[in-house]
Amino acid sequence: MVDPITGFSRLSKEEKIEWLSKTYLAGNKEAKKILRQYWNPDSSLQKLHEEFTENTLSNYYLPFGLAPNFLINDRLYAIPMAIEESSVIAAASKAAKFWGKRGGFKAEVLGTQKIGQVHFIYTGKDHKLQEFFNITKPKLLEAVAPLTRNMEKRGGGVVNIELRDKTELLSGYYQLHCTFETRDSMGANFINSCLERFAETFQAEAKAYKAFDASEKDIEIVMSILSNYVPDCIVRAEVSCPVDQLEDHGMTGEDFASKFVRALKIAKTEPYRAVTHNKGIMNGIDAVVLATGNDFRAVEAGIHAYASKEGKYTSLSHADVRNGMFRFWMEIPLALGTVGGLTGLHPLSKIALEILQKPSAEDLMKIVAVTGLAQNFAAVKSLITTGIQQGHMKMHLMNILNQLEATPAEKEVLVKHFKTHNVSHSAVEEQLEKLRN
Ligand code: MEV
Repeated sequence: MVDPITGFSRLSKEEKIEWLSKTYLAGNKEAKKILRQYWNPDSSLQKLHEEFTENTLSNYYLPFGLAPNFLINDRLYAIPMAIEESSVIAAASKAAKFWGKRGGFKAEVLGTQKIGQVHFIYTGKDHKLQEFFNITKPKLLEAVAPLTRNMEKRGGGVVNIELRDKTELLSGYYQLHCTFETRDSMGANFINSCLERFAETFQAEAKAYKAFDASEKDIEIVMSILSNYVPDCIVRAEVSCPVDQLEDHGMTGEDFASKFVRALKIAKTEPYRAVTHNKGIMNGIDAVVLATGNDFRAVEAGIHAYASKEGKYTSLSHADVRNGMFRFWMEIPLALGTVGGLTGLHPLSKIALEILQKPSAEDLMKIVAVTGLAQNFAAVKSLITTGIQQGHMKMHLMNILNQLEATPAEKEVLVKHFKTHNVSHSAVEEQLEKLRN
């Protein structure tokens, strides 16, 4: 039995590692060394990482790679991606090359508004609350003026505050449903600060409101928080080309297009497939979101909620053929920032944004959506032609060789061998054994 520890956060990094090694890693002699091995030798860079969060022991690396040749709205991008899955960057690059020869990707931002809510309980007369809200709304906006001044200079701010009656869902439950424009910042801190100020002001004004009786004055604030569901912060990404340009793997263009559209129909109707289909999209999206220092959990939550907006989980992307033209597109919600948060703090995020030519949040929305669509195209293309394992296992070969502790010389021989042979764990093991004997 392990005893609880008090004051863990006040221990130094070394002391935390000591405690951890003794308490949970006693059998692992290497653990301490490995945790230290991942410290950055540049102490100020290490300190920067430690200060991102509490109780940091070490750094956790992900590969930071590049998918070049993405033609988006006639501009060529090289897209930085932070991801561990072997085949993702290769697949994105392949899809970029494929669509680069067919006019490239088109992307358009359809909306940029974000939502935050003050959830509160009021048990008095409904019409009195409505009257109070109408009188108080200008005071709410006044109360956040010091917070919104800078955002307004950049063209953002509070767009609207609505009173919403949710008493059918829960007795006494109302909301201040607030809409924000946050320009190039993701805006989470800005939105949450405004909401908390709205809540305080609303509650204080209610106490002083003469038309309320004693119980009506007593508005209870349950919580004030942004929503990661952003169905009005939407970007559309699309590719299209004449069907005959889709000829592939001995398939005619018509054949390829009809198999592709059918695969998408399956993802549309069958939730088991839709989840995996959308996971392929998220392979691209998360990798760019992470590389640029954005919040991938927020993006994931918002996108999957959007995939269920009709009441059933479905595919995020769509494809059709009309008048000999193949079209493949997706509209997704994406709340991203290119200023503030980690974007300007993490040295690699800064470089990622520089690689992308210092995009605005809207530009980044387009780039991220396109990467998701490209990834989805590459996955479905493999699935309906060669199957996914061929490409995947080729890219996974190096992981297997590392697992089997192959030397650099052995790797060279086996990489050459598997250029023309199917990769599987057992096949690699067998070949390595042969080589060693
Ligand atoms: C694997 O990471 C992603 C895929 O499963 C996506 C898909 O099935 O469409 C290949």
